[in-house]
Amino acid sequence: MRSGTWVENRAYARRRLPRGVFDFVDGAAEDEVTARLNRSAFQDLAFNARVLAGNGVRDLTTTVLGRTLSLPVITAPTGMTRMAGPEGERAAAVGADAVGTVSILSASPSVPMAEVAASVSSSQWLQIYLFHDQEMVFDRMRRAKELGFETLVVTADAPISGNRERDRRNRMAIPFRVTPRMFAGVVTKPRWLFDYLTGPPLVDDGGNTASVVSKIAPGTDRSIANVMKGMFNPDQDWDDLKRIRDLWDGPLVLKGVMCAEDARLAVEAGCEGVVVSNHGGRQLDGLPATIEVLPEVVAEVGAEVDVLIDSGIRRGQDVVKALALGAKACLIGRPWVFGMTNGGSAGVERVLNTFAEEIDRVMALVGVRSVADLTPAILRRRTNAGWSRL
Ligand code: FNR
Repeated sequence: MRSGTWVENRAYARRRLPRGVFDFVDGAAEDEVTARLNRSAFQDLAFNARVLAGNGVRDLTTTVLGRTLSLPVITAPTGMTRMAGPEGERAAAVGADAVGTVSILSASPSVPMAEVAASVSSSQWLQIYLFHDQEMVFDRMRRAKELGFETLVVTADAPISGNRERDRRNRMAIPFRVTPRMFAGVVTKPRWLFDYLTGPPLVDDGGNTASVVSKIAPGTDRSIANVMKGMFNPDQDWDDLKRIRDLWDGPLVLKGVMCAEDARLAVEAGCEGVVVSNHGGRQLDGLPATIEVLPEVVAEVGAEVDVLIDSGIRRGQDVVKALALGAKACLIGRPWVFGMTNGGSAGVERVLNTFAEEIDRVMALVGVRSVADLTPAILRRRTNAGWSRL
């Protein structure tokens, strides 16, 4: 039976995908230290479990930005995922909808936004970047509103691209094409090649990669980093966020916050939520793990807005620890993408159901009944003096 765990889906994706595609999803910036810290930091937190808690029935539902979710896990915006499976971002929306949670559609989806909206019965959330081409961003926001997207997520940690050396080594280029040079890498992956060639085309709906690429002279650098340079506005500032606030009449969330000061500015700019995120370690290598920054952000703004977190969330126990430290919900990026590789939208559904089972099991063993019971009291932190209570 196919599994929904990260370890098995990642192993499957590694076997199934060409090297360049696997590395595009799996990789992070430079020495990938931040990506590793995102994981190892969870090991510095342990549970303070209570027994005989009479908690035979547990409730995983939670409300985030006015939306009730069946579990505190949301699929993160990840772009260009059509490379990793025929359904691309549509799979995240369908899988999340099926289990009763929400999906955030990337600013650079590789399947049409209208198709994603038409595939689900509930409203989705949309992510945008503050691209150079503001009119294009505003137009996308207008279209999203018409399509029923309810919450807007602005990702702020990408004024330029992170230095992803695996992509450079693999010569990943935009737009993605199976070129003769790649052929040696893909010929050993016939099932992927068949799916890729017979599946729906990889579109660029919302990113302006097509217009940026059209301005790059033939033969020059079409690397992901160079194309991103043409798209992103390195001068982006808080006034740009306020302009978006004026234009969007639904909930607004800032993603990529990694300190209390920026969380405060996000609230002052009118955001109803922030995502503590280091982009899965894909942007600035050398940032700390998000789970270590979360308490400082919660202390600053947690009483006023919803604080979410992502980067390195792989197990139900990670979600339980993050909620105990004040997060309202967790976003998962790579886990849903590799789940999609291993079974399309059903694969994403399996990933989310696995999270739900694991969260429920941990809650049972820790001795709590609902997500509201997840407080620092259920945790201990590793210190020089041993495992201290929080
Ligand atoms: C991303 N991420 C991302 N973030 C965003 O705001 N817009 C985007 O288009 C993308 N694209 C993207 C593509 C791929 C392949 C990955 C892996 C990630 C970052 C994403 O939203 C999220 O912050 C991280 O993936 C969270 O870390 P984990 O769960 O992957 O460890």
